Amino acid sequence: MEKIVSLCKRRGFVFPSAEIYGGVANSYDFGPLGAEILRNLRNMWWERFVHHREDMLGLDASIITHAKIFEATGHIYGFADSMIDCKNCRARFRADHVIEDYFEAQGKNEKVEGRSIEELDDIIQKNKIPCTQCKKFNWTPVRKFNQLFPVRLGIIPDEEKSLAYLRAETAQGIFTNFKSILDSSRLRLPFGIGQIGKSFRNEVTPGNFIFRTLEFEQGEIEYFFNPETTDWEPLFEAWKQEMWNFVVREIGIQENNLRWRAHTDEERSFYSKRTEDLDYRFPFGFKELWGIAYRTDYDLSRHEQFSGQNLHYTDPETGKSFIPHVIEPAVGFTRLFLMALCDAYTEDGDRLVLKLKPRLAPYKAAVFPLLANKPELVQFARKIYEDLRAQFMVAWDDRGNIGKRYYAQDEIGTPFCITVDFDSLEKNDVTVRDRDSAKQERISIGELAEHIREKIYT
Ligand code: GAP
Repeated sequence: MEKIVSLCKRRGFVFPSAEIYGGVANSYDFGPLGAEILRNLRNMWWERFVHHREDMLGLDASIITHAKIFEATGHIYGFADSMIDCKNCRARFRADHVIEDYFEAQGKNEKVEGRSIEELDDIIQKNKIPCTQCKKFNWTPVRKFNQLFPVRLGIIPDEEKSLAYLRAETAQGIFTNFKSILDSSRLRLPFGIGQIGKSFRNEVTPGNFIFRTLEFEQGEIEYFFNPETTDWEPLFEAWKQEMWNFVVREIGIQENNLRWRAHTDEERSFYSKRTEDLDYRFPFGFKELWGIAYRTDYDLSRHEQFSGQNLHYTDPETGKSFIPHVIEPAVGFTRLFLMALCDAYTEDGDRLVLKLKPRLAPYKAAVFPLLANKPELVQFARKIYEDLRAQFMVAWDDRGNIGKRYYAQDEIGTPFCITVDFDSLEKNDVTVRDRDSAKQERISIGELAEHIREKIYT
């Protein structure tokens, strides 16, 4: 993990947020290369789950959330972490994580999410679990800590009415817009709404790099259906398959680094009939990447109750009116990002190669003139670079020897390096070197763009 963090900083993938002021805990900024990968991930997700499906539409709801929304969902009362402080070193942790990490170090898979603070206290005391940081056993009692970020709206003078929240999940924007979407489109059940956007949680625990941050980007789908005519179990399985295929085929993750884990009854939210996590084997162990939950009609029913608006769906054929049920696949893009980097990170002797799927790579190709002090080579290479740049993200490098330039591109995952040499001027071709095999082939200029496009998108 340390190597990945260092690569991220050195090459401009991820920086600690507000570093010049000493940083903000659990907050990061995505640098030029990180921003490209995130954008690629978002585009892949949107294409796959919104553009390519007849039964899906997209949404972009606001981040500032009416306080009533989180009252209706129960977040204001229930969306709390169990926190515990070490009295010795003053570090603060999530109590459930202290327990889970302790048992995991002993090879046991103990899940305690959803347990009461008394139960968590009891487990820590009975097992004399020491502080994760200083290894002393000197804890405060476990306490609840609400994760919602409140905001005050300046245009409303009334103290109580001016209170709003930053959204803690993108999901609620989908439920609260359900009626407007129905009224403005021709959707018929079953159908889904997908949304990508930032969410905010006041996480009390120090995260593993960008794994758990205060501000993160989610991609959530609410898939609505009639429980009387659609069997939820095959639908749940079909969505699981979609998630798996996206991770394995589109992002190119190795299957042996993935697993499904069903939530236990205690861990699962009370309104959910089934919740499963797709876990990835991060350097710090198997952890949740993407969750899927059958949320029944809980959210729409609660919003109907709290808003007094009719959020029923009327079946155009039978005329029957009911509240649809929903299956929700919810992922974090910053976790997909971290997974992609961990899976791609390869050390080959002293060579570091980021074997990202070409579609995900920040640069699709890099163009080099063999020698920087030969104007005819530079001019020829510059023309190729500019032509390709109009179609893909392409890097230019004319510094140092070719070997060093290859290494520099390998560690940021550039799949193809294109070198212009003296033969190029005569034969109108270039050398294309493949990142993963390090093999080189001559490709004519006329075929170059198509050659790269084919390798990126197939
Ligand atoms: N609407 C359901 C929901 O938000 P969740 O399991 O709390 O469910 C969904 O979050 C996904 O969002 C997680 O699987 C994870 O990928 C991502 N996520 C949640 N909290 C996060 C955090 N603090 N930092 C980064 N990603 C987070």
